[in-house]
Amino acid sequence: MRQQMHVRIVPMSADHLDEVAELERICFSMPWSRNMLAEELDNALSAFLVALDDEGSVVGYAGLQVVLDEGYITNVAVRPECRHQGIAGKLLQVFLDFAAGNHLAFLTLEVRASNYDAIALYGGRGFRSVGRRKNYYEHPREDAIIMTKEFRDGTENRDTRTTDSSV
Ligand SMILES: CC(C)(COP(=O)(O)OP(=O)(O)OC[C@H]1O[C@@H](n2cnc3c(N)ncnc32)[C@H](O)[C@@H]1OP(=O)(O)O)[C@@H](O)C(=O)NCCC(=O)NCCS
Repeated sequence: MRQQMHVRIVPMSADHLDEVAELERICFSMPWSRNMLAEELDNALSAFLVALDDEGSVVGYAGLQVVLDEGYITNVAVRPECRHQGIAGKLLQVFLDFAAGNHLAFLTLEVRASNYDAIALYGGRGFRSVGRRKNYYEHPREDAIIMTKEFRDGTENRDTRTTDSSV
């Protein structure tokens, strides 16, 4: 079993913006700016979380925007030296619990077609590939895979193809 890093997951605040913006620059070729992140603090439809280590430093973060009963995961990122220790899984679990508890119809996101780590992360938590956006990303140009997890009546909609061999 992989070692899990102890983190505290809290809502992103203005105090975290510098570190989250740095994490964006480290992780993405087209990073969100500090101003874009700051706008999310004033957006009533957004929920951005940070994962803090024992010293209170930001080691990961994730963003969710909710429109009616639809949840759009906008960002998930973990510092390179802290990966494979369950941090993204913990951030994602908060959104999964929120979606189930608030009767969202689904959570969805886009991911680079070559981003196998992220695709494995989402696939392992019940997200399924439901489509492809051609040339969605730049630097480098690449397709996006659309991954979605559906919920029904506040419960996770489990994929019967993997749980019921009689179907
Ligand atoms: C994708 C990313 C967020 C994963 O963060 P992480 O903290 O390392 O992920 P976790 O340790 O929580 O892993 C959760 C699960 O994802 C899967 N996973 C993650 N990395 C994997 C890898 N290299 N190979 C296979 N599976 C992997 C596994 O299923 C893992 O579950 P397990 O630990 O029980 O085996 C991280 O690699 C990252 O920040 N990448 C750059 C930014 C990015 O691409 N974000 C996604 C944009 S859509």
